[in-house]
Amino acid sequence: MEQTGPNFYDDEAVFATYMHHRQSTDTPNDTLEKPVIMSLIRSITGKRILDLGCGDAAIGRELLDRGAASYTGIEGSHKMAEVATKKLADTTCQIIKQTIENWTYPHAAFDLVIARLSLHYVADLAPICTQIFNSLTPAGRLVFSVEHPVITSCDRGWTSGKMRQDWVVDNYFTTGVRVTQWLGGTVQKYHRTIEDYFHFLNEVGFIIEDLREARPQREHFHDVQTYERRKRIPLFLILAAHKPE
Ligand SMILES: C[S@@+](CC[C@H](N)C(=O)[O-])C[C@H]1O[C@@H](n2cnc3c(N)ncnc32)[C@H](O)[C@@H]1O
Repeated sequence: MEQTGPNFYDDEAVFATYMHHRQSTDTPNDTLEKPVIMSLIRSITGKRILDLGCGDAAIGRELLDRGAASYTGIEGSHKMAEVATKKLADTTCQIIKQTIENWTYPHAAFDLVIARLSLHYVADLAPICTQIFNSLTPAGRLVFSVEHPVITSCDRGWTSGKMRQDWVVDNYFTTGVRVTQWLGGTVQKYHRTIEDYFHFLNEVGFIIEDLREARPQREHFHDVQTYERRKRIPLFLILAAHKPE
């Protein structure tokens, strides 16, 4: 049976496979997504940061080391929240085991909200955008990544575990739930178009600063073949926006 985001990551086998994947060399996360996220979040010094779907919160320590005033991670998976809490036990980071949908967002409490590859697991994004907006201080920023809509539209023609050679894009404008095989499990994700993401932000009052597709940069790859292969299909969509002053 398919599982929602947090339940999926709580599956023993999926969790083990995911953690193993993230330790590999030249992961898409390390080579494509993270460099863009770091460049878009810009100044960190003194910032109170909220991370939605923080996973193991590895980035929390990095952000604190780079001068963040505080880091709060929201994580719906028990297993992930446990790893994150242990990993950051010697810091002032706070990990809250709660879903993005059900957490009570404090008003004007954060200068920066990040959400890395978690919002495509959320069924109804409009109320979450409102909550994020309200939790930010004036001029506060939101930087988030999702699986690229080209990827989430349809997964016909790809077998999980096999190397992607090409990709079928289909039913692009039929947005909503998609059930897909990944990491040895079955998971429910939500497909949205690029303009959907733009409108969610726009409608709630965010000023959109940047939109990126994680174009591969040679210097982030150890392996030239992986670099060449990553030039074929966009894997991530990343947006940066801020609340008006
Ligand atoms: C692909 S992982 C990314 C983890 C981390 N942000 C990173 O980039 O390393 C997605 C994470 O989002 C969490 N997640 C998915 N849906 C969620 C939800 N509705 N509420 C809270 N966490 C969620 C999952 O449990 C998982 O840890």
